[in-house]
Amino acid sequence: MSPLSITRTLPPDATAAALRADVTEGLSRTPKHLPPKWFYDARGSELFDEITTLPEYYPTRAEREILRATADRIAAATGARTLIELGSGSSDKTRHLLRALTGLQTYLPVDVSESALRAAGEALLTEHPGLTVHALVADFQRGLTLPKTPGPRLLAFLGGTIGNLLPAERAAFLDSVHALLSPGDALLLGTDLVKDEATLVAAYDDARGVTAAFNKNVLEVINRELGGDFDPADFDHVARWNAEREWIEMRLRARDDLTVKIPGVDLAVPFAAGEELRTEVSAKFREDGVRSELAASGLKLTEWWTDSAGRFALSLALRL
Ligand code: SAH
Ligand code: AVI
Repeated sequence: MSPLSITRTLPPDATAAALRADVTEGLSRTPKHLPPKWFYDARGSELFDEITTLPEYYPTRAEREILRATADRIAAATGARTLIELGSGSSDKTRHLLRALTGLQTYLPVDVSESALRAAGEALLTEHPGLTVHALVADFQRGLTLPKTPGPRLLAFLGGTIGNLLPAERAAFLDSVHALLSPGDALLLGTDLVKDEATLVAAYDDARGVTAAFNKNVLEVINRELGGDFDPADFDHVARWNAEREWIEMRLRARDDLTVKIPGVDLAVPFAAGEELRTEVSAKFREDGVRSELAASGLKLTEWWTDSAGRFALSLALRL
C-alpha cells in the first residue's frame, strides 16, 4: 500500500450530481450565481497557486508571515497529534505547522481537488517520512466524517477560504467544525481583513489577468463536465467591493445578448448584454466579528495574530 492514502468520501457520481444541481439552480435564478468550489479542477487549482504568487495577491504572503512567526506557539498551545486541514490545496504554508508540531502523528488534508491532494501529499511524505498522511476528497460543507485519529486535534482552515462562504453557510460550517472536534481541540482560522478598496480590488483583478482566467475556468468546467457551449471570450471578469457586506464579489459579465446550451442539465441559459453571473464572494473580516461568529458555534478565540502590515489575521480558538 502506498504510504499516502487517498479516500473519496463521496460516491463516484456525487460530484457530478452536485455540479448538475448547482448549475441548474444557480443559472435558472435571477441574479445568476454559482458556488466557488467549482473553480477547482486540476487547471483551477494550478491557477489558484499562480494567483498566490502575484504581486497584487497579498493574503498568501501575509498568512505565511504569521504562520512562520507563530507556528511554535501554536504547537505549544495545542500539542496536536492530529492536524486536519480543510481546503488544503497545495498545503504549502502548512509546512510551517508540520515543522513545529513535533508530536504530530497524522495529517488529514481535505479538499475537493484530488489532483491538489495527490501532489501535496506526495511532496509532504518525502519531507516527513514518519508522518501518516490520509487525504480525503470531500466537500467540507457536506457533513464531513473524519477517520478516528489520536487527539489533541488541530483543525486548520487557512487562506481566508472561510470568506468564500455566505454568512449562513459560515455559521453552519462553524457548527460542523464544533461537532467534528472534542473539548480541548483547537481551530486555526485564517481570515483576510477589511482594508482600503483599491488594495482589495487589485488583489482580485491582477494586471496579468490570472484571476480573470481563474474566474472563467468555471465555464470550462461546465463545458467539459456538462457539455456546455460557453465561450469564455463572451464574458468579462469583474471584481467589485461590496462595502455594505464587506466582501469582494467576483462576477462574469456577458458582453452581448447570448444563449448558452448546457445539455448535461438540459438547459438553454439566456444572458442579456451586461448581465452578471456571481461566481464568488470573498468576505473580509474584523476581530470582533470573528470572535462573535466563533463564540456562536462554541469556539472561544484565544489568540489573534496579524501580519506586520495588518492585512490578514490568524486566530486560534478552543473548542469548548
Ligand atoms: N488552503 C490553501 C488553498 C486555498 S484555495 C491556501 O491557503 O493557499 C481553496 C481550496 O479549498 C482549494 O484547494 C479548493 O479546492 C478547496 N475547496 C473549496 N471549496 C471546497 C469545499 N466545499 N470542500 C472542500 N474543499 C474545497
Ligand atoms: C481561496 N480563497 C480564499 C481565495 C480568495 O481570495 O477568496 C480564492 C480567490 N479568488 C480569487 N482570487 C483568489
